[in-house]
Amino acid sequence: MERTFLAIKPDGVQRGLVSEIIGRFEKKGFTLVGLKLLQPSRELAEQHYDVHRERPFFAGLVDFITSGPVVAMVWEGEGVIASARKLIGATNPLNAEPGTIRGDLGINIGRNIIHGSDAPETAQKEVALWFKDEELVNWQPTV
Ligand code: CMP
Repeated sequence: MERTFLAIKPDGVQRGLVSEIIGRFEKKGFTLVGLKLLQPSRELAEQHYDVHRERPFFAGLVDFITSGPVVAMVWEGEGVIASARKLIGATNPLNAEPGTIRGDLGINIGRNIIHGSDAPETAQKEVALWFKDEELVNWQPTV
């Protein structure tokens, strides 16, 4: 079954949006198989955002994601990678549709509340970067 990596960023945690965000994925029907709260190290953040290393916002992005608690999650379900991206909305919350997490809850591209893997290869890489195998629970909902 497909898995994706999602992270509620420090702005989402500090604004008290954790239950709202987790609730949206639960209500949609996806299965939570990994969950932890951590303040990421610089090394972890730089690896996670390696693809953006040459971008002008890279240093600020790493500063921000390491500035406070992050809720790191792995969600499982059919088509979860693309579906989660739809539920999250466009990168810039000002362009995100109402009904999406960023469209409903954010206005700032540098404080866009949540990260979601953008493709199967990225999801695999990000799940492995943030979680050890034994931190993931293999279970299937029975309802
Ligand atoms: P995320 O989905 O975590 O992936 C890369 C992040 O870079 C993105 O969300 C934004 O938070 C951030 N980002 C992208 N473009 C900009 C920008 N122009 N200025 C600041 N941050 C940006």
